[in-house]
Amino acid sequence: MNKITIAIDGFSSTGKSTVAKRLAKTLGYVFVDSGAMYRAVTLYALQNGFIEKDCFDQDQLVDQLNNINISFKFNEDLGFAELFLNGENVEKEIRTLEVSQFVSQIATVSEVRKQLVKQQQNFGKDKGVVMDGRDIGTVVFPDAELKLFMTASAERRAKRRYIELIERGDDVVYDDVLENVKTRDYIDSTREDSPLMKAEDAIEIDNSNLTLEEQFEKVLNLALEKIELN
Ligand code: DC
Repeated sequence: MNKITIAIDGFSSTGKSTVAKRLAKTLGYVFVDSGAMYRAVTLYALQNGFIEKDCFDQDQLVDQLNNINISFKFNEDLGFAELFLNGENVEKEIRTLEVSQFVSQIATVSEVRKQLVKQQQNFGKDKGVVMDGRDIGTVVFPDAELKLFMTASAERRAKRRYIELIERGDDVVYDDVLENVKTRDYIDSTREDSPLMKAEDAIEIDNSNLTLEEQFEKVLNLALEKIELN
């Protein structure tokens, strides 16, 4: 059976990665969390002092882009690939609220986008990939056979994210998480380069009132239909 490309875009914390990861595992496809790559660049910028207080030195980051090596390694126990930044596993470090607070700003930089998009296209060159992000169906894989666009209310998404961070042991306040979700929505959808938008041929899934199981079933059925057509 021919493999297809599955692009899943949408607002932050809509549960895209959870569904995409499970879908990839079920189909035997590769899963790529493109947001993790923008998070890794942000972590690098924080670690190297390119972001201090609220000031971000864009020129210094762009200058150093070639020194940022991002790779994924499959973890058998977890059942998905973890992100390595210059050889170091940073899966936990890239999910902090501090990284979340700056990542949308970093993702507005065209040079960063160009470099990461090239790498993402390379990951998907043989098809059989499920990639989630903001511009996957519009920019990275405009010819993807299946494009999904996931939405949910900001409050729903913030609550989900807040629970995730608390469960990991992070000391966060719900209102800060909600504000971060809303700020990122705004920056991601209004930036000049590749803003978050629904591709014309994407199928919208509002998961405000769907359980994880219901979301997964819906997405799996859509994928199987497309795969059969190929
Ligand atoms: O999916 P996420 O919340 O981990 O993504 C983090 C940020 O990265 C998000 O606020 C916008 C940016 N991003 C992007 O601009 N393009 C992508 N394909 C994926 C993420």
